[in-house]
Amino acid sequence: MKNTFGNALKVTLFGESHGEMIGTVIDGLTPGIEIDYGFIDSQLERRRSKATVCTQRKEKDEYKIVSGILNGKTTGTPLCIMIPNMDTKSSDYQIFDAVARPGHADYTAHCKYHGYQDHRGGGHFSGRVTVALVAAGAIVQSALAKKGILVGTHIKKCGSVYDRDFDNYAKDIEYIQSIPFSILDKDAEKQMMDIMIDAKKQNDSIGGIMETAIIGMPAGVGEPWFDTLESMLSHAMFAIPAIKGVEFGAGFNCADMLGSEMNDEFYIEDGKILTRSNNNGGINGGISNGMPIVFRCAIKPASSIPQKQKTVNFKEMTQTEVEIAGRHDSAIIPRACVVTETMSALVIADALLSRYGTDYLFN
Ligand SMILES: Cc1cc2nc3c(=O)[nH]c(=O)nc-3n(C[C@H](O)[C@H](O)[C@H](O)COP(=O)(O)O)c2cc1C
Repeated sequence: MKNTFGNALKVTLFGESHGEMIGTVIDGLTPGIEIDYGFIDSQLERRRSKATVCTQRKEKDEYKIVSGILNGKTTGTPLCIMIPNMDTKSSDYQIFDAVARPGHADYTAHCKYHGYQDHRGGGHFSGRVTVALVAAGAIVQSALAKKGILVGTHIKKCGSVYDRDFDNYAKDIEYIQSIPFSILDKDAEKQMMDIMIDAKKQNDSIGGIMETAIIGMPAGVGEPWFDTLESMLSHAMFAIPAIKGVEFGAGFNCADMLGSEMNDEFYIEDGKILTRSNNNGGINGGISNGMPIVFRCAIKPASSIPQKQKTVNFKEMTQTEVEIAGRHDSAIIPRACVVTETMSALVIADALLSRYGTDYLFN
């Protein structure tokens, strides 16, 4: 029952979609970090439902930091954030304590928790739980920014439409964090929105690919085997509900490349060691090489769709059909970008604190 993640910086997650509160405890945080409430608010705003393709559930996310701060700064003791659930409508979910939504976690939760799981709104498996990760991650993300380490995620692909590549990383990250939909190119944004709306009109859902960049990361952070930066980041990404694939740098395309194409040649500029390409995504041997860390996550279409689908009643052991009601994201991806981004910040901070000690983020 592992709901805690991290080494030097440990994040514990709790709560259910329709329970009283969602929350997180962050342990190992550097004392003296100034809490940037404005940044927490803006990151939570990016996660909130905003378009017709997102859930009609409207949560205000009125979070409270109940421990680990004094006079607006972290004390270094466990910081606990609690966020009440206000807009719940549990009656829509009554049948899912016995009828499995295809692609969702109703059946597997039943198998693991012997029927004692909270099935309302997807319970502990709901995307709603990510609100706590965003609030916690935003605290760490703004502390990293003071050290010159920036993290940003955009929607790289939806349907057949691609966003442009990161160009000026710092500017692009600032831009992504200032707009409701994390898409760099305006034309691509319009086309992607049309694709998402179209999927919803057809009572369906759609996924896509998110791309994350982490810049300013010093070379030499990460471990060679089981805590490689790739494994830490992908472990965290696969914890985010609905993420089904992660690739770094050239990713799966590396299988079609020759060594001479894949290798990132080194050079020196202004006393800094850089590489000409970044096919390895800023990581060699599990350790940061000082180039931007770049990775992509594939997120699946939400499983809860208002179409008749074949399934089972796992309590009665009968075959049945289900047409899912309730309020759902027909496209998760606009809201998931900020989850990926803040989760990446938590992982990177953990790696830095493991390497340099818990005072690393002191400002
Ligand atoms: C921000 C966010 C919002 C989500 N919203 C929905 C939703 O409205 N409906 C749904 O079926 N799944 C939604 N999901 C995905 C489910 O939580 C997820 O598919 C489910 O827990 C099963 O886990 P798995 O897809 O990783 O196997 C959301 C995920 C995230 C990250």
